[in-house]
Amino acid sequence: MRAAAFTELTGPDGVGVIEQETPEPGADGAVIDVEACSINRHDLWILDGDSAMVDGGDLPFVSGLDVAGTVREVGAAVRDVEPGDRVVLCPNETCGSCQYCREGPENLCERFSLFHGGLAETARVPADRLLALPEGVTPVEAAAVPTAYMTAYHMFRQADLEVGDRVFVPGATGGVGVATVQIADALGLESVGTSSSGRKLDRVRELGLDRGVESTDIDTIREAVDGRFDAVFNHLGGEYTGLGQSVLRRGGTMVVCGRTAGGESTVQVADLFLQHKRVVGSTMGTQGDLRRLLGLVADGEVDPVVDETYPLGETDAAFAAMQDRDQVGKLVVRPQQ
Ligand SMILES: NC(=O)c1ccc[n+]([C@@H]2O[C@H](COP(=O)([O-])OP(=O)(O)OC[C@H]3O[C@@H](n4cnc5c(N)ncnc54)[C@H](OP(=O)(O)O)[C@@H]3O)[C@@H](O)[C@H]2O)c1
Ligand SMILES: [Zn+2]
Repeated sequence: MRAAAFTELTGPDGVGVIEQETPEPGADGAVIDVEACSINRHDLWILDGDSAMVDGGDLPFVSGLDVAGTVREVGAAVRDVEPGDRVVLCPNETCGSCQYCREGPENLCERFSLFHGGLAETARVPADRLLALPEGVTPVEAAAVPTAYMTAYHMFRQADLEVGDRVFVPGATGGVGVATVQIADALGLESVGTSSSGRKLDRVRELGLDRGVESTDIDTIREAVDGRFDAVFNHLGGEYTGLGQSVLRRGGTMVVCGRTAGGESTVQVADLFLQHKRVVGSTMGTQGDLRRLLGLVADGEVDPVVDETYPLGETDAAFAAMQDRDQVGKLVVRPQQ
């Protein structure tokens, strides 16, 4: 079977199609015919050689977290999934035995990791991480959901918001950004977002953003967004953390899940404690979050946004588009094409 592998950690040029053995399910696994796998900035960190999870010794490396497709084969111990089922994978990998696995939430697992291997015609996955695709949801739509939408959904659970509250979304146009805007819209919240691109902001306004600020200059954005936010959803890090803190209301919450604009930020300590602000870290979400999200997708409350699909042989072009900040929402590879 064919897989789009990272053969060098040199950015999009390092992606090539290789032949691999079709995987066996093992006792508790399932083999999936992968119809769609979305890409994430997480994969691009790996491809750029900027991830603690993968180094040159792991090459060729098949990435891809967000798998949707049809079950081809299951292991002898698998009871809840069978060949022919249409499924989507929750890419969380947890140890099952630590305190957080026992008591929840599972994404706090002390040995938390992520599934990789979806950028291939077939993938072996843990069967107990598969969720049924609801009627009417396509594999391409479903593949957009796990990492970006589940992460955004879990961030909302940290923020304790009420209908009508105001949220700030720096970088509102990518996977997590668009998911955040759409969930805010579904919850009846007012959203303000930023982007370097007016064209992309116009599109995100159609998807539910109430107000867009076209700038990457922190002071310009601070002046333009005027007013105090009940929550900031910060997947950019860097200077955006200080910006987010400065536009939070007293007692407001900034949830941080990423570092696209930088891995170090400055926090104003006195403002933090005098104004009772909260800064919360968040990674991925729980399988229950993903199940609830798929319900929202099936009910039409949240419509996953896929900007472009690519055949397996053009996976390099998908990563180039992400690197060039071309897309609104998600990019999806279709390995069977
Ligand atoms: N902790 C977790 O569990 C978790 C889960 C998912 C994602 N993440 C993290 O969240 C971030 C977003 O992931 P994603 O997959 O949604 O990425 P993505 O789709 O590539 O995000 C694109 C967005 O990031 C903005 N952006 C890109 N480079 C930027 C820069 N240098 N400065 C400011 N803005 C920039 C883009 O702004 P423009 O509109 O201006 O192009 C766009 O709005 C990543 O850091 C990722 O690692 C973390
Ligand atoms: Zn654990």
